[in-house]
Amino acid sequence: MSETTELQNKVSLIDTISELDTFEKDTIGPQSELMKKFKDLTQLPVEQRKLLGNELNNQKKLLQNIFDTKREELKKKELSIQLSTWKDISLAIPQHKIGKLNPLTQERWKIEDIFQKMGFEIAYAFEVDSEYNNFEAVNIPEGHPARDSWDTLFTNVDKNVLITHTSSLQNRILKEFATKIDALENGFLGTAGIGKCFRHESTDARHEHTFFQCEGVVVGKGIRFSDMIGILKTFFEAYFEKEVEIRISCDYFPFVEPGNGIEIRWDNPSENILKITKGTGWLEVLGCGMIHPNVLKMAEIDHEVYSGFAWGFGLERLVMIKYAVDDIRLFHSGDRRFLDQF
Ligand code: DAH
Repeated sequence: MSETTELQNKVSLIDTISELDTFEKDTIGPQSELMKKFKDLTQLPVEQRKLLGNELNNQKKLLQNIFDTKREELKKKELSIQLSTWKDISLAIPQHKIGKLNPLTQERWKIEDIFQKMGFEIAYAFEVDSEYNNFEAVNIPEGHPARDSWDTLFTNVDKNVLITHTSSLQNRILKEFATKIDALENGFLGTAGIGKCFRHESTDARHEHTFFQCEGVVVGKGIRFSDMIGILKTFFEAYFEKEVEIRISCDYFPFVEPGNGIEIRWDNPSENILKITKGTGWLEVLGCGMIHPNVLKMAEIDHEVYSGFAWGFGLERLVMIKYAVDDIRLFHSGDRRFLDQF
């Protein structure tokens, strides 16, 4: 067996690059036998030196070639081993959950459904509206002391406000009614308007600076106070999915006369509800009343012929009662421990 074949055999048995490196160093590295032979060439006469020099060079090239080929082969093998034992090192998120709708959106849709089934149209309030719509058109002219009941955020252009209540929709709704009302034989025109409202006030478990309201406006011939109570009771029972006992109190809002508050009784209260109701079981849920003649006049509806009622309630309030939520701030908190329960 020639020296080269013997070396080839040995190389073929190597299976790591580091082993190959050592063997290569020993065979053709600076301290190897072969390199010593190169040094010894200097002792030889010129002719012989040339001849032997050539031979040694060829041999070195051949050996180098064997090592290089083997190295490529080993690299490929190592890479394929690495790939076959590949691990996913990206961050694993345990129990990754898909997002869902905020409970307020879910409940708003239910509320819209109920009113639609009762024959109402649905409208949405502007978040920024004119001072006229928010105040004047609902019988709260400039300088009226009732303006102080709403801690209003004003914009610095065009006397606009961040709406303090969805009553800002009343004038728009009524003006639209004015175009249809003469064609109405009997029955009523009704719209439930939903919107995000803003107040400049500090927050606590029952108050938020940003919250949703639902405004109702109903007009027709001979619409009475009892119609209002009937419609609202029907709505509460549909929303809470049970019979609801209500209590009517007097209240003051410049856009209705008489103005009222409605409370509902929550039987079997949980601790959270007891906290919200201060232990009484009665919860004030909305303001309402018969639409003031001035408000009808401003929308060009003849108050001698037509009458109507309006209400406004806070959406969060209703949802808090239904699910015994004890802090209004949770809705906008983004806290998944709360939100995932819905
Ligand atoms: N806009 C009132 C508020 O935010 C709520 C309200 C009370 C609306 C009586 C009405 C109503 O339409 O008739 O405090």
